[in-house]
This record gives sequence, structure tokens and C-alpha cells, in this order.
Amino acid sequence: MSLRDKVLAQVRARSPLRVRPEPPLPALTPTWADASVRRIAAALERAQRRDAGGWFVVGRSSDVPDAPRAESITRVVAGRELALWRGSDGRLHAGPGACPHLGALLDRCPVAGDMVLCRWHGMALADGRHGYREHPAYDDGVLAWVRLPAEGETPTPAPRLPQRPDPERTIAAVYVGRMRCEPADVIANRLDPWHGAWFHPYAFSHLTVDESASDADRLVLDVTFRLGRTFGVPVRASFHTPDSRTIVMTILDGEGTGSVVETHATPLGTDRDGAAVTVLTEATIATSDRLGFRMLRPAARLVRPLIVRTAAGLWRDDQDYAERRYAVRRGEAGIGKVRRG
Ligand code: FES
Ligand SMILES: [Fe+2]
Repeated sequence: MSLRDKVLAQVRARSPLRVRPEPPLPALTPTWADASVRRIAAALERAQRRDAGGWFVVGRSSDVPDAPRAESITRVVAGRELALWRGSDGRLHAGPGACPHLGALLDRCPVAGDMVLCRWHGMALADGRHGYREHPAYDDGVLAWVRLPAEGETPTPAPRLPQRPDPERTIAAVYVGRMRCEPADVIANRLDPWHGAWFHPYAFSHLTVDESASDADRLVLDVTFRLGRTFGVPVRASFHTPDSRTIVMTILDGEGTGSVVETHATPLGTDRDGAAVTVLTEATIATSDRLGFRMLRPAARLVRPLIVRTAAGLWRDDQDYAERRYAVRRGEAGIGKVRRG
């Protein structure tokens, strides 16, 4: 091997970048035949049968302030108002969003010990006080969850978390968006990886689903994440749905092996037109053995906005996809009723 080839081999071994010129759209192989309507519907049906145990993601764990600035926040899940707060030990609490006295919204209320104090007249609320009943809550370090009665679901003590990389070696960032569709439309978008290179050519190319490694429960694909027109980072990734409201992408090989992107779809309720509204919470939990990544970890605060901006860019398109899917199902497509929620 010549010196030049040796140097090139060294550079290649150390860098995840590969020359992967962006193919022009007309040169792409059509993928519609692979993105079989029946196959996607069957995968979605299987996903929807996976019991989420009544657990709903309600936001980032960092959304709920801790002492000394502890106060309540509110969320809506499936049309139900919820208040969330942290007790003096940092534990996450959740309960109805309305005060049992005169119905005040328990938003930005002070916290004393484990109790939230209503801002209207100071009623101190915690499980069992004044008829107030808390809901089980769970903080996984990245996301906050609440368990609610959910039709067809058997309550479990904790949400079934997908396998994540060691938190000591990760940078986690969460994107939250809202869209006019049902949770199933968000999951269905991710169960169709074949749209990747066509619909997001600026982000993905060289995308092929490895049928021999895929099965009914897991899609395995090879894809290049684009870094401009010439360079890209090839990886191997899988998608699986641990429960009816979650789909997880795991990097199996290549840069960031072990990193996961968890997409959680939480029903919010309906808008004025009676259309479903879903909140998307997407946690990117990145890891890498590279020295550069380890050096970046202390600066995670600076990196998180970049991860969130990338997720937001992709979701601009995928929101259109999910909302359009919902509109078609509602018979709205083509009759001028389609608009963003
Ligand atoms: S409304 Fe909450 S204490 Fe009166
Ligand atoms: Fe997409």
C-alpha cells in the first residue's frame, strides 16, 4: 500500500464522513412499490395492539421545574387537564389540572413539600387531600410520563422504556411539536422509511431497507445522513414500536452506534373542527465512542439546540405527511378543507 493510500485509510478510519454525492431526484429509484400500503397498515395495526400500560409522555423532564424554583405546569392529554410539579425531593407528581375548590387551573402554582398550592386561595393539594387524587407519574431522566385510565390498556407500574445508551455517555435533546392528526398518523409516518430519500433529499440518501434483516416487528435499513451535497454519514438503523404511541430508531452500525431517537405521540384532544390534535415528543439520545463526542458532552447545552433544530426541520415535512394522511382518512383531501391545526 502506498503512503498516500495509507494516509487515506487512516483518515477514513477516523472520520465518519464518506463521499456520497447527493443523487438528483429523477435519478432516484422509485420506492412506492416497496412502501406497500398493506405492509404499512399491517405494521401499524401490530403497533397499535402493543399495550402502553396507560402511560403517556407529557413533555421533557426538564419542563417541570425543581426546587428552589419549583412550581406547577399544566398539560392536556386526551382532553384531560393535568398539573405536574416536583416535590421537595425532586420527585415528579401529576394530578388533575383543576383545583377542587373553584376549579382554578393549577398552572404556575407554588409548591410546598410534596403539595401544590392553588394560586386562587392557597388550598394545599396532594394525593388524598380535599378529594384530590394524583395520577402515577414517572420521570425517566429525559421525559416526563403520566399514567391515565386508557381504554383497552392494562395499567403497569412504569412505562416500558426502550433500551437507551448509558446516560453518562449521551447527549439528549427533545423536540416537541403539535399536529392535526391522530397518534397513529405519527407512527405510520415512521413505519414508512421508504419516503426518506424522496421526501427529505436534503437529509437522507442511499436508503435501502434490508429485507433479510427486517421482520414484522423491526425494519432494518441502511441510509446516509446528508451533510451537504457531497458528503454524508452512512449508518445502519432499525425502527421498532415498543408500544402503540412510540416508535424508536436505533443506530445499529456506523457513527453513533447505540444512539436512539424515540418518537412519542400523545393525543391532546380535538380542535374546533372536531379534528384530532396530537403532540409529538421526540427524544434524540445520542452517543458515540469518538473522543470529539466525549469532549462535546460538557457543552451539551450548546449542542442540544442544534439537535432540536435538525429534528424540527425534518418534522416540518413529516408533519405535512402525518396531517395529510389524517386528512385523506377523514375524506378532506381535495375538497379544500385541509389546513394546519
Ligand atoms: S380555586 Fe383553588 S383554592 Fe380556591
Ligand atoms: Fe420523514
